[in-house]
Amino acid sequence: MSVLIKGGRIITAGDDYVGDVFVEGESVSLIGRSLDVQADKVIDARGKYVIPGAVDPHTHMEMPFGGTVSCDDFTSGTISAAFGGTTSHVDFCLQEPGQSLPDALATWHEKIERKKPVIDVGFHLAVTDLTKGGNLEDLAKAPDEGVTSYKLFMAYKGAIMVEDETLFKTMQVAARTGALVMVHAENGDAIDILVKEALAEGKTEPKWHAATRPPLTEGEATNRAIQLARIAGAPLYVVHVSCKEAIDPVARARSADWQAWGETCTQYLFIDETALDQPDFEGAKYVYTPPPRPKENQEHLWHALATDMLSVVSTDHCPFNWDGQKTLGRDDFSKIPNGGPGIENRLHMLHHFGVREGRISMNRFVELVSTNPARFFGMYPRKGTIAVGSDADIVVFDPEKEHTISARTHHSNIDYNLYEGTEVVGAPDTVLVRGKVIVENDELVGSPGDGRFVRRARFGEHLTGAGGS
Ligand code: URP
Ligand code: ZN
Ligand code: ZN
Ligand code: ZN
Repeated sequence: MSVLIKGGRIITAGDDYVGDVFVEGESVSLIGRSLDVQADKVIDARGKYVIPGAVDPHTHMEMPFGGTVSCDDFTSGTISAAFGGTTSHVDFCLQEPGQSLPDALATWHEKIERKKPVIDVGFHLAVTDLTKGGNLEDLAKAPDEGVTSYKLFMAYKGAIMVEDETLFKTMQVAARTGALVMVHAENGDAIDILVKEALAEGKTEPKWHAATRPPLTEGEATNRAIQLARIAGAPLYVVHVSCKEAIDPVARARSADWQAWGETCTQYLFIDETALDQPDFEGAKYVYTPPPRPKENQEHLWHALATDMLSVVSTDHCPFNWDGQKTLGRDDFSKIPNGGPGIENRLHMLHHFGVREGRISMNRFVELVSTNPARFFGMYPRKGTIAVGSDADIVVFDPEKEHTISARTHHSNIDYNLYEGTEVVGAPDTVLVRGKVIVENDELVGSPGDGRFVRRARFGEHLTGAGGS
């Protein structure tokens, strides 16, 4: 099967020109100003952007958490992703208490076998214990399986939090194996005390989720992780940076050229802490962690994205239905499962409010949602760019298409949308995963199984060669 994408504005992190892209099989085989080739399918991209498929490096599909399981599996979640222009994602394989690390990875492989994805999928290994089920030998072997990033939670005490010993030992292993260490940076001990105090005073509503996780708990843990990673000699990636207190230590590390980087997520750019005050328990929809912050943080986040102090925008897609899942915490905010949806709307929101409103360029947009995640997580240049030999993960994006974001029309299983009613201009038209059209004319034309597991390269190494594995 060959596809010719004609006359679009081809935009990568570094380029912006009008031309044709010829796809043979799973990869890009020719790019030129005006290609004279026969193709099985021709896509007229005049007036549209032709951009590399977005890479979402932070998702939680079908994840047991907070006494329930996130409500998208790898089929529903990746269909939702595809409609939003995301063609690969890296999901957190979460080690259960007492489970060995190979078993944890096997569990996640079973999930993508049972509920097959429509886009490509990689795994991070989320280490929760290195004494009962987990051990350092197994941890060191994960990169051989194409799992080249380790994730640690410095919060969620009594559940998946690790103490500094496990964090530091994992960093030492990463320094040897070439894995990238990822941290959820919050001081889980301090938060645990603040939560208990609030509940003892009868403070049970959703807004106390934010009040018991003040920005400094994120700032402290971010700085601690950065310094521990320096001691261990491991590269570090701080997930879901939400506030100035955490931007500052990341920015300091970036300025000093330390091996530390940070991402933020769409929701922190648009939703502030007042969302938690919505009546009738609607505020529970915004209980994700770190919590929505005071509004002034949003301009700091945009500024950090524009100046390369933050390097990626991900979604932290971790959907729990309001009805039946969020409501588990009706009488106690600490029992509301933490997480929010968003895998479908990252490009919509970032293009409209970032590019159209002049906060970031189109090149930077591509870099933040596609190229940088591919680079950090060992998928570049097979993914994250449009170049001869790269996987033909391509989005034909119509910058003038009008779209109203709503739970009524989104493709995730979740019963609400964080951006309900937002009208955006600019949306994906056609989405290809390794040369196969997955979404066209607002219809799913791909099928479960079109997506594959990606064996990722180690940090700093390139992933070359065609196709998934
Ligand atoms: O609230 C969130 N973010 N839930 C998912 C787990 C995590 O902390 O990323
Ligand atoms: Zn987290
Ligand atoms: Zn700032
Ligand atoms: Zn997360």
